[in-house]
Amino acid sequence: MNTVSSLFDLRAARLSLNGTVGLVPTMGYLHEGHLSLVSRAKAENKHVIVTIFVNPTQFGANEDLSKYPRDLERDLSLLRPLGVDLVWMPTAEVMYPSGYQTWVEVDALTSPLEGAMRPGHFRGVTTVVAKFFNATQPTKAYFGQKDAQQAAVIRRMVTDLNFPLEMVICPTTREADGLAMSSRNKYLNEAERKAATVLFRSLSGAKALYEGGERNAETLREKMKAVLATEPLAQIQYVSCADYDSLAELEIITGKALLSMAVFMGKTRLIDNFVLG
Ligand code: PAJ
Repeated sequence: MNTVSSLFDLRAARLSLNGTVGLVPTMGYLHEGHLSLVSRAKAENKHVIVTIFVNPTQFGANEDLSKYPRDLERDLSLLRPLGVDLVWMPTAEVMYPSGYQTWVEVDALTSPLEGAMRPGHFRGVTTVVAKFFNATQPTKAYFGQKDAQQAAVIRRMVTDLNFPLEMVICPTTREADGLAMSSRNKYLNEAERKAATVLFRSLSGAKALYEGGERNAETLREKMKAVLATEPLAQIQYVSCADYDSLAELEIITGKALLSMAVFMGKTRLIDNFVLG
């Protein structure tokens, strides 16, 4: 497994790879969710490139950039047995050298949900991912359904900017009790960790109504809020039942829909979602 930081070394290493390349972009502090993307990439490509970069431009001023968990040695030891060819760990100076002023922005899809709560977040994500795509030239790129809007926004960018690659969206990996795996789960204390299962229970409750024939989106949103309200440690930021493609809030569900939510457990912000239909 080759590990590189500079663009010069990345290019040299990329040139030595012949055949299909699967790319898995991450911010590190890897868990089984990330590793499921890497395994899928390994199964579907001759080579796998993983990027590890805590991208400063996607964090808001009041967000957790400085305390975002990092453990490079552990990350590399988790990737080695999976047959990863190349790990690119650029520094902020490599990605955003002095004088940097070019941004990639996706329009309407970034307005609701995460985009509404985290202004500028998706501009940082699409910019860094476009730079990863240009530098690594992957055949396929792997993203998690856990970050549903991120996957939708990057898919839009790939289409709109004619990136010659295929997007693969992988299912959310969960703990045994349903909590979606996330690097941020590390912030939860014992009581918050227990309480955090309420996101999965709330989504499951709404899904059960849907499977029983309920198609009124507000009824599903109310169900999610009611379940979340049973957990005193949970503070709802948003609860949504939106069209899967446009992410616009629905009145009546007729096609594929996305149930999603952002919830504070103490100081830790958690997101989760289910796809319906
Ligand atoms: P990060 O949060 O490290 O996630 C990297 C990838 O792993 C994303 O595609 C994310 O959706 C996926 N992922 C996270 N938790 C998952 C889970 N429980 N199951 C399945 N997949 C999961 O998302 C980012 O980094 C950044 O925004 C990035 C795309 C790297 C750009 O900086």
